[in-house]
Amino acid sequence: MKIGGRDPVGFSLTAAIAALGGLLFGYDTGVISGALLFIRVEFHLAPGAEGLVAGIALAGAAGGAAFAGGLSDRFGRRRVILVTGLVFVVGSVVAALAPYLSLLIIGRLIIGVGIGVASMLTPLYLAETAPARTRGALVSLNQLAITCGILVSYLVGYAFAASGEWRWMLGLGAVPGVILAVGMLVLPESPRWLAGHGRLDEAMAVLRRLRGTSDVEAEFAELRTDLQREGRLPSWRELLNPAVRLPLVIGVGLAIFQQITGINTVIYFAPTIFQAAGLSSASSAILATAGVGVVNVAMTVVAIRLIDSVGRRALLLVGLLGMVVCLALLGLGFAIGGGAAALGWITALSLAAYVGFFAIGLGPVFWLLISEIFPLYVRGRGMGVATIANWGFNLLVTVTFLELVERLGRAETFFLYAAFTVGAFIFTWSLVRETKGRSLEEIEADLRLRQPA
Ligand code: BGC
Repeated sequence: MKIGGRDPVGFSLTAAIAALGGLLFGYDTGVISGALLFIRVEFHLAPGAEGLVAGIALAGAAGGAAFAGGLSDRFGRRRVILVTGLVFVVGSVVAALAPYLSLLIIGRLIIGVGIGVASMLTPLYLAETAPARTRGALVSLNQLAITCGILVSYLVGYAFAASGEWRWMLGLGAVPGVILAVGMLVLPESPRWLAGHGRLDEAMAVLRRLRGTSDVEAEFAELRTDLQREGRLPSWRELLNPAVRLPLVIGVGLAIFQQITGINTVIYFAPTIFQAAGLSSASSAILATAGVGVVNVAMTVVAIRLIDSVGRRALLLVGLLGMVVCLALLGLGFAIGGGAAALGWITALSLAAYVGFFAIGLGPVFWLLISEIFPLYVRGRGMGVATIANWGFNLLVTVTFLELVERLGRAETFFLYAAFTVGAFIFTWSLVRETKGRSLEEIEADLRLRQPA
């Protein structure tokens, strides 16, 4: 996919290494689904403990997201991402070698902190090093990396399914962690961060290196104007400013809807769902899950191609409608029951289509919109709050899913997610305006006008 401008080499390299953060986010959240089938048996896990193993990384991620902005403002994006690569390595090794459940949980918690930091800093670093005109595609490149990471985790899960080697599944996450850390050693600091810390000569040198030309005066001038407009260091209190209320409602609202519409019950528990639906062997359940992963990647590519022409709002609305239909079908499939094989098929197809509709809408559009709708001076903090909400609700859905299935029933649980998705549709319909092809200043001005007095 062509994303760079005049200097595809310098910039593509930066993008590729930085997107490893997205890959690790995807790999380390996805890998638990396959591993859980074996961890459950080895440690004799009750449903509550299983939810904890699946969810502890998400709690770590919410924590990591809370600190990512502040740490990277202080120490620089590059250094914090580099350390995050090492955090992934340590967490993966601890989890893979854990002799006890408690150590496994600690390892996953450490990985989670890495995921949380990466989920925020990868798009931030990409956006800050990207030329303005390709920023949108680049932020979505991060989502593509996430879905590729999930797919790779499923394939690794499949490869090790026969032997039940869950330790290898978790341990392999150390490899991209090492590449990320080493890669960040050679990558430049974000020119925006350098300029913000008064290191203007270095900022100019980095811009020249990234763009492969010494003709960067215009972009550099824009960078400095931006900073002058900010004029102060951001603080959390800025989020209380009435001008930020509407973006905050939209950002946090979409963060919550991205999770309570149930995507990660599929991403993390797909093999378990497939087994319940009649695909009884662990390998066929994991293979069907890999199919879901392929649909996720493919539809994300479609989304990236359409996002600047069809627009964010249309993709969101169509995606949400499709999700409602698929969730209802899924619920019906479980409600009717019937022959195990038929049920297995309905489940597999509805799940794949559901993930496809998520991937063209709510998946990429949420991360893109939160990088677009906040006024510049609170963008980091605003994105931080939305990211924390996203991980917090991810955790909530993950730890309640198995309980809900037990108490409400499988069909009713999916009907509940369908109802939340109807809510997401109404929310999007009434609050989310199109942002394609508009400058961030125009978006900001429009949101200010719509602000209730
Ligand atoms: C979401 C993740 C989800 C992934 C699935 C991301 O946008 O934030 O929670 O697992 O998409 O592709």
